[in-house]
Amino acid sequence: MGRVAKIVISVAAGLSVAVGLSACGSAGISVAKTSPYYPGAVIFLDHCSGCHTLGVVGAEGSATSVENRLRNNAPNFNYRVETVDNVLYAIENGGFSGQIMPENIVVGPQAQAVAKFLAHYAGSEAPHAPAFAQTSTP
Ligand code: HEC
Repeated sequence: MGRVAKIVISVAAGLSVAVGLSACGSAGISVAKTSPYYPGAVIFLDHCSGCHTLGVVGAEGSATSVENRLRNNAPNFNYRVETVDNVLYAIENGGFSGQIMPENIVVGPQAQAVAKFLAHYAGSEAPHAPAFAQTSTP
């Protein structure tokens, strides 16, 4: 086989792996692809789901019990209500404490999209919990 043919084949194989992975990665999202929140859902799954739980994207990063809790287990967004401003604050400052969550995992339009998505879907299992208003730097 010629060198060019080998390169073409390996590039094609690499592409099909990438496509397969992304299809697999978005399988847990139950937000419609046509929804304005869909891009934010994909960003959340890619960048936040390792540490946070949120049912609408199938994320299970939070601790399930006190016994198996890890230091980087983060708030469960099925129960926690969030506002767009609070999410942007958390993204820019590394959570509210600035200790565990990395700062600026996403920035600019991606941060806006994931904040709007999360503010819309967070707290779906906590109908009576008020949003915590972040008014000043702690
Ligand atoms: C490495 C793990 C990790 C990743 C990745 C991560 N977080 Fe966090 N996050 C945490 C931890 C731990 C906390 C709780 C401690 C704190 O607030 O500092 C937290 C807190 C938060 C809070 C505050 C929640 C509350 O009500 O107290 C928000 C909002 C948040 N994260 C959003 C996000 C978003 C959006 C992403 C993805 C862009 C993300 N996080 C990615 C670990 C993570």
